Amino acid sequence: MRFVRVYHADPRTAAETVYPLAWLSGLSFGHPDELRALLDNPVHRVYLISQPRLSRRPVGYLLAQIIPPEAEILDLAVLPCLKRQGFGTLLLEACFREMTAQGVLRCYLEVRESNVEAIAFYLRHGFKTCGFRSDYYAQPSENALCLSRSFEKTDTPYF
Ligand SMILES: CC(C)(COP(=O)(O)OP(=O)(O)OC[C@H]1O[C@@H](n2cnc3c(N)ncnc32)[C@H](O)[C@@H]1OP(=O)(O)O)[C@@H](O)C(=O)NCCC(=O)NCCS
Repeated sequence: MRFVRVYHADPRTAAETVYPLAWLSGLSFGHPDELRALLDNPVHRVYLISQPRLSRRPVGYLLAQIIPPEAEILDLAVLPCLKRQGFGTLLLEACFREMTAQGVLRCYLEVRESNVEAIAFYLRHGFKTCGFRSDYYAQPSENALCLSRSFEKTDTPYF
């Protein structure tokens, strides 16, 4: 894990970087313009992670919406061949640091109920089930599990 870099994506080019990563990871934004429109709003942040020894391109990303005291993780993915090597954790920790520094007290997310690996990952990072949305996802249609985790005021900053 030496030399790993987690950084904010440049909003002007983030869509071009994130779109292929999302596609490779089985996630979908529809058209890249949808992602561009989302990133035009400054409440949305994209974190990228790179490991120059492995690839010149980022190997994972996290997309979050931060509106203190609440935040939402909109998307998170690591290249399939590099899963379970701690990259997802580094992205989430970087995001938690910024959230707590900005005064976020609760973070939410939705995940497909069949996505056992992501659910295990989020439970490992302090999220708990807080709800359920019927037929929330399309292609294929599927229910969403809603997860949330809180931060104490004294958690600021996260680390
Ligand atoms: C979810 C995801 C981002 C996790 O990233 P990652 O880099 O593989 O995760 P990490 O290596 O940091 O894993 C940290 C911990 O999460 C848990 N975890 C991660 N993957 C898991 C799996 N397949 N099964 C069980 N637990 C898992 C483990 O506790 C793991 O710690 P350990 O390896 O010491 O046991 C990755 O699996 C992914 O890109 N999935 C596809 C995209 C996706 O579904 N995103 C979620 C959309 S909401």
